[in-house]
Amino acid sequence: MTEQELTDRVLSRIAGAFDPRFREIMLSLVKHLHGFIREVALTPAEWRAAIDFLTHTGQKCDDKRQEFILLSDTLGVSMLVDAVNHRDHEGATESTVLGPFYVEDAPPMANGANIAEGAAGVPTFVSGRVTDVDGKPIAGAVLDVWQTDAEGFYDVQRPEKGDMRLRGKFRTDADGRYRFRTIKPVSYPIPTDGPVGRMLNKIGCHPYRPAHLHMIVSAASHVPVATHVFVAGDPYIDSDAVFGVKPSLIVDFVEQPAGATHDGTMVDVPYCDIHFDLVLAKR
Ligand code: BEZ
Ligand code: FE
Repeated sequence: MTEQELTDRVLSRIAGAFDPRFREIMLSLVKHLHGFIREVALTPAEWRAAIDFLTHTGQKCDDKRQEFILLSDTLGVSMLVDAVNHRDHEGATESTVLGPFYVEDAPPMANGANIAEGAAGVPTFVSGRVTDVDGKPIAGAVLDVWQTDAEGFYDVQRPEKGDMRLRGKFRTDADGRYRFRTIKPVSYPIPTDGPVGRMLNKIGCHPYRPAHLHMIVSAASHVPVATHVFVAGDPYIDSDAVFGVKPSLIVDFVEQPAGATHDGTMVDVPYCDIHFDLVLAKR
């Protein structure tokens, strides 16, 4: 049997699959996988190393750690899945990686509340408006926001400090407006103590993500968006370890001197006041 005959035999077996989408995906996957093995002439030792790598990736996963998502992110797969699924959302806020640190059921908070109560960091006031693509405000849209502490750790990475820190859900008012307080995000490394960290090291890549705040914005009859607000000027803005930066999501976090914020809140240290509007596509 020639190499090509082997590939054809596998493909013809898969061609009998009943589910058409499953059949399409499996046929393409096997074509590319066989093509890749032929192209690099994979050795048995390399094949074994690949099996061990995937095994260790699975073994590193638990309910708080998802090493396969990290692998997908660092290979640009997550951003490519995102891109092919947002080809026709013209005018809507751009999406980016969800990342492995999203937690459902963040606490609902009133507009203006502080998700970083008691946390060190530069106080930051975030406000904006959620509209549809025609500019009509969306009342009752939900913003689910989360970020790291000033040392670059998510709450789930520091369970000893308590859960649901630096997370919260906000609802837009009748004009589609939202606002909350937090701390200025910092850049941080994705976890490197597993197979993905070893892979990045072997490639010679740093593991850092530029400073960002995560948001999932959703509203009835609209397409939800998982996005970030990135800090302009971050040293890693052009080399995000997970390829998540889009220029439309970069915002200037200009530091203001201590004093009264635009809504009259007194702050006794320098702070940032940023505005970020969001646009949702109709379903
Ligand atoms: C994050 O931004 O939380 C993240 C995204 C991808 C990989 C690791 C972390
Ligand atoms: Fe993040």
